[in-house]
Amino acid sequence: MRQKALASQEYLEVARRCAEEHLKGRLLEHTRGCVEMAQKLARRFGLDADKAATAAYLHDITKAFSLEQQTALLQKLGMSPAELASHLPAVVHGWLSALIAKRELGIDDPEVLQAIEAHSTGCAGMSDLSKVVFISDFIEHTRRFPKAAELRGREYPTLDEAVITILRRKLEYLLEGRAIVDRRAIECWNELVERARQKET
Ligand SMILES: [Fe+2]
Ligand SMILES: [Fe+2]
Repeated sequence: MRQKALASQEYLEVARRCAEEHLKGRLLEHTRGCVEMAQKLARRFGLDADKAATAAYLHDITKAFSLEQQTALLQKLGMSPAELASHLPAVVHGWLSALIAKRELGIDDPEVLQAIEAHSTGCAGMSDLSKVVFISDFIEHTRRFPKAAELRGREYPTLDEAVITILRRKLEYLLEGRAIVDRRAIECWNELVERARQKET
């Protein structure tokens, strides 16, 4: 049921309830791990931990849907065919989850919505909150891929450095498999690396 726009302090409880109602098994465990990590990183980098947790609770809320269900819902919620075609199937659930958060849960905070949208790919103009959720999604404690523990245990000096490290790993994996790379991931990479270079000079 559609709700009216919420005050920010109400976001977290709505998001938690939504996640616990709709997710189960490993996806719920991953989501809880992501929330925990996002709160920890948000506090460490001086960000709003409730907002980070809200985005983390909702980031994969539609991931269990089939691609057909995701596509149908995106069309119903007004995503144009051109926009839909610009997203890779594996990451489109971020955009759908953000649309559900906005339209169905009344969450209208742009930082929270961007953090949900861009949690897999990153994007240009990524906020610090989005970086926290992007990082948490990849290194939270239930992740078991090779080097997950090493990535989790590192002391990242800045959020940008953590995103660069993780995005590099994602891009290398995709390029190794000759997979198509979402343009938002490339835009994110270029922007962060350019900024890092400018700081070095
Ligand atoms: Fe995801
Ligand atoms: Fe996730």
